[in-house]
Amino acid sequence: MDILKLTHPITVRVAALVDQKELEALQWRASLNNPGDRNALLANPDAIELPLQQIEAGGVFIAEVSGAIKGFAAILTREDGDSELDALFVEPDSWRQGIGRVLVEHCCVAAKAAGASAIHVVGNPHAESFYCACEFKPFGTEQTRFGVGLLMRRDLR
Ligand SMILES: CC(C)(COP(=O)(O)OP(=O)(O)OC[C@H]1O[C@@H](n2cnc3c(N)ncnc32)[C@H](O)[C@@H]1OP(=O)(O)O)[C@@H](O)C(=O)NCCC(=O)NCCS
Repeated sequence: MDILKLTHPITVRVAALVDQKELEALQWRASLNNPGDRNALLANPDAIELPLQQIEAGGVFIAEVSGAIKGFAAILTREDGDSELDALFVEPDSWRQGIGRVLVEHCCVAAKAAGASAIHVVGNPHAESFYCACEFKPFGTEQTRFGVGLLMRRDLR
């Protein structure tokens, strides 16, 4: 992990209700930077939503650098007791600085503490290399509203 590119450390905190709009705006900026996703998103703006209940449940984590929000991730508990990485977005001007990886590691610790034996994600194909670098293994695909999603899983045991 090359977080030495950053001159200030990445800190992670639990999101508060007041962060909702700022996180949704960040999600817009990050998602619109994925080549090919832009038109589908602009045609379906309801796809970008971070429900207040999800923040309230305590499973949304914010990465900050020098007090500025640079990314966030959200986990949900699945019916089988494992965790689902439901959201992961980093500010485009801060990509490739280790922020996404720090968020994934934080989510894994939180998921394990909640009793999960694995963390799953339906990954955007643009993020496949990222998830592989974060120790997720692909095991299939799933049709999503916006195309093919990569089913990936990281063992937490
Ligand atoms: C995917 C995303 C979260 C990655 O965040 P990030 O902070 O840039 O990732 P990191 O810097 O922690 O990358 C960790 C490693 O993943 C790999 N990686 C990350 N982005 C990559 C890319 N675009 N291409 C190839 N490898 C990549 C690299 O191995 C990287 O390590 P390195 O920079 O030392 O080589 C970010 O690009 C993003 O927000 N994308 C738009 C939203 C999105 O697609 N989210 C995923 C939804 S499933």
